[in-house]
Amino acid sequence: MTLVFADSEKDQPNVSVSDIMKQVTDKAKAIVVVHYAGVPVDVHSILEQTNHSIPIVEDCAHAIDSVDPKTGDYVGKAGCLSTFSFHETKNIGIGEGGLLVVNDKKLWRKAQIVREKGTNRTDFTAGRVAFYTWVDLGSSYLLSDIDAVMLWSALQHIDLIQNARLAVWDAYDQKLLCPPNCVYNKPSKSLRANAHMYFLEFNDPEMRTEFCKAMKENDVLVATHYVPLDASPFIEDQRSKILLPAGEPCVQATKGSKSLVCLPLYADISTQEVKKIITAVIEFALSKGAPRLVAADEDHWEQIRVLRNQNIDCFTFTKDITRDEHWNFMRKHSDTYRVTVQDGKCVGFIGHVEQDARLATSAKEKGVAQLMWESCEQEVGGLDVKVLLDNQRSLSFFRKLGYVPDAKALEDGQNPVVLHRDTKL
Ligand SMILES: Cc1ncc(COP(=O)(O)O)c(C=O)c1O
Repeated sequence: MTLVFADSEKDQPNVSVSDIMKQVTDKAKAIVVVHYAGVPVDVHSILEQTNHSIPIVEDCAHAIDSVDPKTGDYVGKAGCLSTFSFHETKNIGIGEGGLLVVNDKKLWRKAQIVREKGTNRTDFTAGRVAFYTWVDLGSSYLLSDIDAVMLWSALQHIDLIQNARLAVWDAYDQKLLCPPNCVYNKPSKSLRANAHMYFLEFNDPEMRTEFCKAMKENDVLVATHYVPLDASPFIEDQRSKILLPAGEPCVQATKGSKSLVCLPLYADISTQEVKKIITAVIEFALSKGAPRLVAADEDHWEQIRVLRNQNIDCFTFTKDITRDEHWNFMRKHSDTYRVTVQDGKCVGFIGHVEQDARLATSAKEKGVAQLMWESCEQEVGGLDVKVLLDNQRSLSFFRKLGYVPDAKALEDGQNPVVLHRDTKL
């Protein structure tokens, strides 16, 4: 039997189903998938595309409590075998231990024998045979009773554990904005799954090394992850001895191995610890020149006025504003006015008066407007959005953030039109 590796998806570490399908031949004996970070791989698509002719083994080590979006059931029921891990690093961690799910009658008896050290002891305890003896290979895979007690207790509290983990994931997601200068990228919300991991992605490996160093200095334990199996010394050795065929390098997996960093995520992490980690990450991004939001003050008036007039087509009040007009306005609302400063320059402003917000930016990098909007939303919440109907740039910006025009307002020909967060998203 030989091993063939499939690469990761372009946008996340999970194995790519289309790459699996490219590697599958009629010699394929089994397909092994890892639901990496608990994010479900579309096993159903593989089953369909192979007409259910190739058994699938699911590595669910990360995936306890993950839900399969196709069935709405827990992950780990589609393949013929699934393995779960209770290693200390997993969501339900008791130190060491695991669970084998057998979804194939033929393999069930085999599993019982393997579990009982290669004997038919299961038949003996069920009273089917008078004595037990060795019938196949096996080993000592059972949990000790003490571990089993710990596991039972943890499983009884799985909702508590999972809710705590999900809350940490959400705190990172909400508080860590993507720095517009791309120091790192945040994971997409679609990778939340069972909150097994929260990883940042660094495009520059040196930046990642610096980040890990800075986190260590701040006493934040981060982990780089994901060394691709096909590039491991063992596989390289097997290939050099022609025990395994050479394969195409897994380019995406290699890229992931050089870019990902996991932040601390465990059920009993304290709120203060999470805050400390968020502050350390933000401080790092700022130290690398990421724009920051500060309260607007007198020094910013002129830059705000210029920005406002440069973006005049986006506002309903179309007359150029003068410095005096603007100062009169800002003086009254200075506590709700923020500017984004990058390299000492004001590159954007966001202000709101009684929930009605105005936003403009001159920054070329993507993400500055999002940084401003999300920071302001976090601070005040429930901001109203009104956009002129011919302002496609703003409409598409807010659409990406999950805002859609109010259907009734559109029908009534309202302009500027009110946008609402689409609760279905
Ligand atoms: C993807 C994956 N599979 C399998 C395992 C092995 O789990 P265990 O240590 O419980 O054998 C791990 C452990 O880290 C893992 O990350």
